Amino acid sequence: MRRSRLVGCGAYLPDRVLSNDDLAGRIDTSDEWIRTRTGIGQRHVAADDELTSDLACAASRKALESAGVDAADLDLIVLATSTPDNTFPATATKLQARLGMTGGIAFDVQAVCAGFVCALSVADSMIRSGGADTALIVGAETYSRILDWDDRQTCVLFGDGSGAAVLRAEDGDGTSDDRGVLAVRMRSDGRHYQALYVDGGVSTTQTSGYLRMQGREVFRHAVANLAEIAGEALEAAGLTPADVDWLVPHQANRRIIDATGKKLGIPAEKTIVTVERHANTSSASIPLALAAGIDDGRIASGDLLVMEAIGGGLVWGAGVVRL
Ligand code: UT7
Repeated sequence: MRRSRLVGCGAYLPDRVLSNDDLAGRIDTSDEWIRTRTGIGQRHVAADDELTSDLACAASRKALESAGVDAADLDLIVLATSTPDNTFPATATKLQARLGMTGGIAFDVQAVCAGFVCALSVADSMIRSGGADTALIVGAETYSRILDWDDRQTCVLFGDGSGAAVLRAEDGDGTSDDRGVLAVRMRSDGRHYQALYVDGGVSTTQTSGYLRMQGREVFRHAVANLAEIAGEALEAAGLTPADVDWLVPHQANRRIIDATGKKLGIPAEKTIVTVERHANTSSASIPLALAAGIDDGRIASGDLLVMEAIGGGLVWGAGVVRL
């Protein structure tokens, strides 16, 4: 059975760091409120001349290096972003040119914070159906550009960053012991469009707009849906939460991460948490957490990972991957 094996990953964070205290100096908030309600301690912010494509390129180069794959050998790039460089073309095509990949196809997917799981799903489907052999999947965001820095309910929550992974076609036995992407499950429910959205856009205001969120509503859906979809993905792979070595969740809020782990029965010691350092980097948060877990030696080759995320749409999903 043809599988997509995850053979490398990389991450990039901009140099500039904004602490909770830095924000408390500008708006009516406090380090204590932000830490208690979200687990966030700081966030990285892109330099004025740093674009989403720059972040994506830096993370992608590291992922290709760790995979030992030459960009010329890629035949697919799926870039998840909701903060593209331009309305079109896809930021992925700029990345394609900068990496030196001349064949294949590069395109963006827009599933907000669930973007990386969506990119994983699309690339895995294309690899398994024979449409690609070697894929780069990327999550890259510059949310600092769409934050209303006077709105304390949203601006304290997000950060900029990028993470990437390389997938390569490999033959497996078709069992749950195989290495690679074992199952992905995705859902959306557009009735909650207004729960988390940007109040501008090409067709509405001809401006890029600012992020608006009904935090409590998104929180409620996150806690209700994430464990369920992770359980579905595990079941589709013929596995249970007891088989999981590492939960690599979207990093929006420590309380959501803890509640999801608890519902699944996966202990905190088996969960990668980077929200304290990175805040919510939307589609970049899972590959950033994955790279952090691999770099510090916790996640090892052969480990079984569950990745899950929810975001604007609402869109949510989970992927089960054996490294
Ligand atoms: O990645 C996409 C998915 N997004 C998420 O998963 C986000 C989900 N939502 C959340 O994480 C949480 O709902 C928040 C962190 C956004 C908010 O936490 P909460 O515990 O739901 O707080 P709240 O919105 O109910 O606000 C509680 C209080 C309010 O004051 P009053 O009305 O009780 O007087 C807010 O005005 O906290 C106030 N507040 C703040 N205070 C200090 C809201 N933001 C701040 C702030 N600093 N930054």
